[in-house]
Amino acid sequence: MLVMVIGAKGQLGTALCSAFQDGEVIQVDKDTATYAVDIRDRGAVQACMDGLKPDLVINTAAEHELKVCEAHPDHSFSVNVSGALWVARACRAVNARLVHISTDYVFGGDSARRTVPYCETDCPNPLNVYAAGKLASEHLVAVNCENHIIVRTAALYGLAPCRGKGGRNFVETMLARAAAGGEIRVVDDEFTTPTYTAALARQIKVLAECAAPGLYHATCGGACSWYEFAEAIFEEMGIQANLVKSKSLEFQSEVRRPTYTVLENRHAREAGLDVMPSWRDALKDYTAARRRAADAAV
Ligand SMILES: NC(=O)c1ccc[n+]([C@@H]2O[C@H](COP(=O)([O-])OP(=O)(O)OC[C@H]3O[C@@H](n4cnc5c(N)ncnc54)[C@H](OP(=O)(O)O)[C@@H]3O)[C@@H](O)[C@H]2O)c1
Repeated sequence: MLVMVIGAKGQLGTALCSAFQDGEVIQVDKDTATYAVDIRDRGAVQACMDGLKPDLVINTAAEHELKVCEAHPDHSFSVNVSGALWVARACRAVNARLVHISTDYVFGGDSARRTVPYCETDCPNPLNVYAAGKLASEHLVAVNCENHIIVRTAALYGLAPCRGKGGRNFVETMLARAAAGGEIRVVDDEFTTPTYTAALARQIKVLAECAAPGLYHATCGGACSWYEFAEAIFEEMGIQANLVKSKSLEFQSEVRRPTYTVLENRHAREAGLDVMPSWRDALKDYTAARRRAADAAV
């Protein structure tokens, strides 16, 4: 099977290239990759697809810096909505299966006090430009490429840096702040499920190879506040940090963020295809992989 990963240099894209390395993987990204294609360029997307004729395309490319999306909706929609549409149409034209990556942020606008995980049939209610664009992309992918798998995920971290967020992810931000010393204030009133990219990449492979077309939630199991996640990171890494609970109101932002976006992987579970570990086990795996990478670099 010929697999095309779009956004191959990114945090999730890198993990996907590893997960599919038993077959042939075409790496596509905006600048330098095996193939440089900007998904905003409809003709370039179609030409790339026509030339390579992949069996499976996984589109991870996105503008997902919330402040950039809010300030420049035209730019964010050109990547997250139009770009996703060009990829979907090009996939249909060459009969490729398309895996499209979406987000937990499509939820959260319905209730600030929710405590029940969202499943795939719950009604989305996006609060910001990024989330609205990703929801629009889901609809466009579904109607333009019948053979689609839409994967909503959340709070990613992995060995490769998150390019859209300046190379940061939450784990590395916490470790850098602990190394710098001083108080680390983290909110305990926003809830999500931290998801390790290596675990998600394995889940995407299973869905891509075995699942019926449709919408699938795919996060690690369980849920926590960002404070609890930070606490677990320091515990796993054996680091003493001056971690202090805070409230989201303390961090004023021009972008509205949901306070609860925990997802239930119901469709994958019902199909017998949910292979995601708990968020705590995934963090252990990440800690071990990070140590191995550091040892190998010495
Ligand atoms: N990170 C999270 O916590 C999170 C949570 C939920 C869902 N998601 C979704 O998961 C997906 C992957 O996220 P990630 O964390 O792996 O992001 P990432 O590290 O920023 O990777 C995105 C990749 O896409 C490329 N890209 C951006 N615009 C492009 C364009 N116009 N044409 C071609 N390639 C383009 C980027 O290249 P450049 O760096 O050169 O621009 C980058 O290599 C995204 O769809 C995101 O919306 C992420």
